[in-house]
Amino acid sequence: MKETLLFLREFVRRPGQVGAIAPSSSYLTAEIVRQAGVRRANTIVEFGPGTGSFTREILRQKKENAFFVGIEMNPKLVEILRRNLPGANIVSESAENTPAILKNHHLNEADCIVSGLPWASFPAELQDNLLAAAIQSLRPGGRFATFAYLQGLMLPSGQRFRKKLRETFSKVHSGRIIWKNLPAAFVYRCVK
Ligand SMILES: C[S@@+](CC[C@H](N)C(=O)[O-])C[C@H]1O[C@@H](n2cnc3c(N)ncnc32)[C@H](O)[C@@H]1O
Repeated sequence: MKETLLFLREFVRRPGQVGAIAPSSSYLTAEIVRQAGVRRANTIVEFGPGTGSFTREILRQKKENAFFVGIEMNPKLVEILRRNLPGANIVSESAENTPAILKNHHLNEADCIVSGLPWASFPAELQDNLLAAAIQSLRPGGRFATFAYLQGLMLPSGQRFRKKLRETFSKVHSGRIIWKNLPAAFVYRCVK
């Protein structure tokens, strides 16, 4: 409940950046973490952890020695993530800087990226910069998993994002609709 209120407060402050009024459900969390292939990965990146719904599940499922970094640009949420998940490696930056962030950790490539970013709220240029950072940071065959709200597909920005995914990745798969999420959502599983 505390997390939901916090999320809502940050949404009111920065609607275009937070992009959702509540944290993702356990159903969406389970699906996105599975589609990204977190259990098998050695290097895992999360874009926009927010209040940490996906982060908790990634940390629970990842191999003990797998590397994890969560990239969150809202300093208030970074502070809360670090307090609530003291073991998690969270950096306070834009996910546009992912290649440099990996380099700072002496890594070149990630096996998977789990994204919680609200793509349909972003302008075209930001979508392009973030997708370029994602593709540059993944190893060949690496997975990028992100979600979209069903209603977002009706927006031009949602359609534009779907098209950009197809142009950027070699394979794009749209998963089943998760009706138990509020709002209903689905996961895109993309392969470099
Ligand atoms: C919808 S929330 C995701 C929350 C979480 N995954 C969940 O579902 O509960 C989106 C998050 O992305 C963050 N964000 C937006 N743009 C970003 C960027 N360029 N780089 C990193 N984080 C960003 C926002 O601050 C927000 O915390």
